[in-house]
Amino acid sequence: APDIPLAAVKGHLAQLQSIASANGGNRAHGRPGFRASIDYVKGKLDAAGYTTALQSFTYGGATGYNLVADWPGGDPADVLMVGAHLDSVTAGPGINDNGSGSAAILETALEVSRSALTPQKHLRFAWWGAEELGLVGANHYVTNLPAAERSKIKAYYNFDMVGSPNPGYFIYDGDNSDGTGSGPGPAGSDRLERVLQDYFTSINVPTRGTDFDGRSDYGPFIRYGIASGGTFTGAEGVKSAAQAQLWGGTAGVAFDRCYHSACDTTSNISDAALDRNSDAIAYAVWTVGGAGRQPG
Ligand code: PHE
Ligand code: ZN
Ligand code: ZN
Ligand code: CA
Ligand code: ZN
Repeated sequence: APDIPLAAVKGHLAQLQSIASANGGNRAHGRPGFRASIDYVKGKLDAAGYTTALQSFTYGGATGYNLVADWPGGDPADVLMVGAHLDSVTAGPGINDNGSGSAAILETALEVSRSALTPQKHLRFAWWGAEELGLVGANHYVTNLPAAERSKIKAYYNFDMVGSPNPGYFIYDGDNSDGTGSGPGPAGSDRLERVLQDYFTSINVPTRGTDFDGRSDYGPFIRYGIASGGTFTGAEGVKSAAQAQLWGGTAGVAFDRCYHSACDTTSNISDAALDRNSDAIAYAVWTVGGAGRQPG
């Protein structure tokens, strides 16, 4: 799998920061910064050969959007989806939450195009709206899919907060073998978890499980029995002494002390965490997507 260029991921974050700054300081549902950010991501994907669709929905009296991008090819009955929420809270520009996941999956999608990837599975990327108001966009997408289309989605990877400045390296505990799940997730979630673990093992970064409780956009997917997984570098939780031993950083300080705050800017990012997670995403897409295993 390719090494995703960190500079390119950070370039997307700089763009999301300047879009927020030019639009009242955020990318929140119903605000102009959200729509402008969707247009930025869509423009990159269209130029790279994706088939993109904007799905609109109404929530709280405002129009919201999901952006869905399909990479042509692969088995249409065997879809791997990768998603991140693009909206922020109103308090700030949401560069870690969730510019980080949005930029990391965008650059992975662009790398698919640069590599002219012909994976066995059909790849579909999504940028969700209104996550911060209760997973509204992802829930709208999943529940409004015809059942026949929903059943073609065999796996969903979610990335929400992957560049926390005092990072942990967490993987959703889809099999509950770490005891931080909420019961095992849908069949196949264990494999999605293991693929991510394998990547971090290969770069000698230890990982720990984190709650698989539906606190991000994979929630609606697991409710429909779709195998899901993802990574997370921590939010308002405080890094323990043991975690600081394991990963470095500062014990007694939140993983992201700017969580949902005005200071969640481009300064609020660990480059190492963002780089490692971006590369993990690419490894998972290449591995689970079946790159190089296509017939012919
Ligand atoms: N979904 C939370 C938010 O956007 C962050 C989060 C992600 C929390 C993953 C737990 C696990 O605010
Ligand atoms: Zn949030
Ligand atoms: Zn988030
Ligand atoms: Ca586990
Ligand atoms: Zn890298």
